[in-house]
Amino acid sequence: MSMIILRGRVLSFVSEPQALDDASSYRYIEDGAISIIDGKIVAVGDFDAAAVGDAEVIDHRPHLIVPGFIDTHLHYVQSQMIASYAGSLLEWLNTYTFVEEQKFSQQGHATAVASAFYDELIRNGTTTAVAYCSSAPASVDAYFAEAEKRNMLMIGGKVMMDRNAPEALCDTAQSGYDDSKALIARWHGRGRGLYAISPRFAITSTPAQLRATQALVAEHPDCYVQTHLSENQAEISLSMQLYPDSSDYTGIYEDFGLLGPKTLLGHCIHLSHRETGVLAETGAVAVFCPTSNLFLGSGLFDRERLCQQGVRIGLATDIGGGTSFSMLRTLDEAYKVLQLRGQRLTPFNAFYMLTLGNARALSLEGTIGTIAPGCAADLVVLDAAATPSMALRMATATRLDEELFVLQTMGDDRSIAEVYVAGARAKSTLGGLFA
Ligand code: GUN
Ligand code: ZN
Repeated sequence: MSMIILRGRVLSFVSEPQALDDASSYRYIEDGAISIIDGKIVAVGDFDAAAVGDAEVIDHRPHLIVPGFIDTHLHYVQSQMIASYAGSLLEWLNTYTFVEEQKFSQQGHATAVASAFYDELIRNGTTTAVAYCSSAPASVDAYFAEAEKRNMLMIGGKVMMDRNAPEALCDTAQSGYDDSKALIARWHGRGRGLYAISPRFAITSTPAQLRATQALVAEHPDCYVQTHLSENQAEISLSMQLYPDSSDYTGIYEDFGLLGPKTLLGHCIHLSHRETGVLAETGAVAVFCPTSNLFLGSGLFDRERLCQQGVRIGLATDIGGGTSFSMLRTLDEAYKVLQLRGQRLTPFNAFYMLTLGNARALSLEGTIGTIAPGCAADLVVLDAAATPSMALRMATATRLDEELFVLQTMGDDRSIAEVYVAGARAKSTLGGLFA
C-alpha cells in the first residue's frame, strides 16, 4: 500500500460557522499534510510532524486544500441546454427541457453527454453531485457507469413523469416503478454510486405515480428521494389544481409519504409557515439553487427563515436552469440573493455549505465533506490569485476570510488548481481541449 502526502494550506470544517470570525467551526493548518492510502485520508496535521517515510509528497503550497465541493441538485441531461432563453419555469420546461431530455433514450448520446458532464464537474472542483437523469433508463446507466469509471461518489436517478409532458418522455406509474426498481438493483451501492428515487414534480406525476413512488420509497428506505417544490407561482397554482385535496404544495408530497431525512427538495422559495414546519419536522432538505432561481426569475430563497424554523439546507447549481457548473459562481449568486433579502453569507459559512454543510444535507458526514482520517480523499486545491484581477485583489488580502471571500466572489473553474478523487489526481489528468 503506497501512501501519498498532499502538502499545502489545509482548511476543513467541524461545525456550521455561527459568525464571521467563528474560529471554532474550522481547522486550518498553515503548512499541512494530508496523508492518503487507498483513496482514504489516514492522517492530517502539520507537515513537520508527518510520517513521510517513502511516501510521495505533492506540494501544493501556497494553495489552499479543502474538501471536494458537493452539488446537491442538478440535471446532467440539461448540460447542453444551459442558457436557453425563456421567461419562466413552465415555458422553459415545455420549450426546451422536455425536448432536450428526449435525446437520452439513445445510449450513445447519453454516454457522450455523461462523459462531458463529469469533465465539467471535475474542472469546477465538484467531486460529488446529486443529479436527475432523464426518464430513459439508458440515461441512468450512462450516468452511473461514468461515475464508476471515475471512482466518484455520485447520487442520481431516473426521472419519473407520467403526464403533462411529451409522450416520448413519459413513463407510466407501473413502468416508472419497474424501471426505477431495476435501476436501484443495478446501481445503488455499486462502487460509490447511490440511487435517488426521482419523481420530477407534482405536475408531471399522476396520483397513481406518486402512490407507486411511495411504495418504492418504503421498499428502499436507504435510497434518496429528490423532487422539486415551490419554485414558481404558476407551478404552485397548477400543482394545487391537480391535487385539490392536499393542503398545500408540500402537503402533496407529505400525503404520499415522500418526506424524510433523505428527501432533497429543489428550490423551496414560496413556502408557507405550515410548509416549512413540515420540512423541519420530517428532516427533508430544502435545496437553494441561486443561479437558477435568478435565471428563471423564480424568486429569492429565504435562508434565514428556513434556518430559524429548523429546516435543513443544501446548496446547488441546478444545471441547466442554473447557469454555471461552478460552485464558486453559485456562492457568488447566493451571496447576492441573500443581500437582497437583507441576509448575510459569511465566507466561512459559504465554504462550509459547499463541503460539510452539503455532506450533512446528504447524511454523508464522515464519508465526504471533511478532511479527516477515515474520509474519502476527495479534495480541491484552490488558487485565489488565478486570474489577473484576482491576483491584483489578493495582493491586498491578509486574512483567510478575505481569501475565501475573493474565491467565492471572483472565483470559477480557473481557481480550481487541482482536484483529487479518492486520492487520484482528476483535473490535471482530464483529456480534451480545455483540460
Ligand atoms: N421543475 C420540474 N422540473 C424541473 C427542471 O428540470 N428544472 C427546474 N429548475 N425546475 C423543475
Ligand atoms: Zn431541478
